[in-house]
Amino acid sequence: SNITFTMIKPDAVRAGNIGAILQQITDAGFAIKAMKFTQLSMDEAKKFYEVHAGRPFYGELVEFMSSGPIVAAVLEKENAVADFRELIGNTNPADAKIGTIRQKYANSVGENAVHGSDSDENALIEANFHFSGRDFF
Ligand code: GTP
Ligand code: MG
Repeated sequence: SNITFTMIKPDAVRAGNIGAILQQITDAGFAIKAMKFTQLSMDEAKKFYEVHAGRPFYGELVEFMSSGPIVAAVLEKENAVADFRELIGNTNPADAKIGTIRQKYANSVGENAVHGSDSDENALIEANFHFSGRDFF
């Protein structure tokens, strides 16, 4: 698939980094297919991150992801999922390569500026979570 899904997380929105992050994403060759400024309720954040339920950081993650506005977007590029994860860098910004979005804008493994889908299947599930009723191929 050529689609991935991203969120600019509450820490990066609060820090005023929406514009810089979107610029880096489009400069890297991703086209924005859908985008919105929104906020997750606790229940929506729980559902979005259900796969992490039971992990020790789940409560903290849900609390953080619903703590303020986010930008949710569907991105298109050849090899989108893998290339986007390369662009954002390691989950922990301390381990993220120089120049990656997380290296530049993330504060910690928990507050790490952006989300990127981890598979084609999850990209479609996540895109439909935020933009239901639309077709992304
Ligand atoms: P996403 O693109 O956000 O899914 O990140 P990822 O795929 O690089 O990491 P993963 O799916 O394993 O974890 C999802 C999110 O949970 C991470 O982005 C972090 O926000 C959070 N997280 C992961 N590990 C930890 C941790 O050890 N502590 C805390 N507080 N949060 C964590
Ligand atoms: Mg993940």
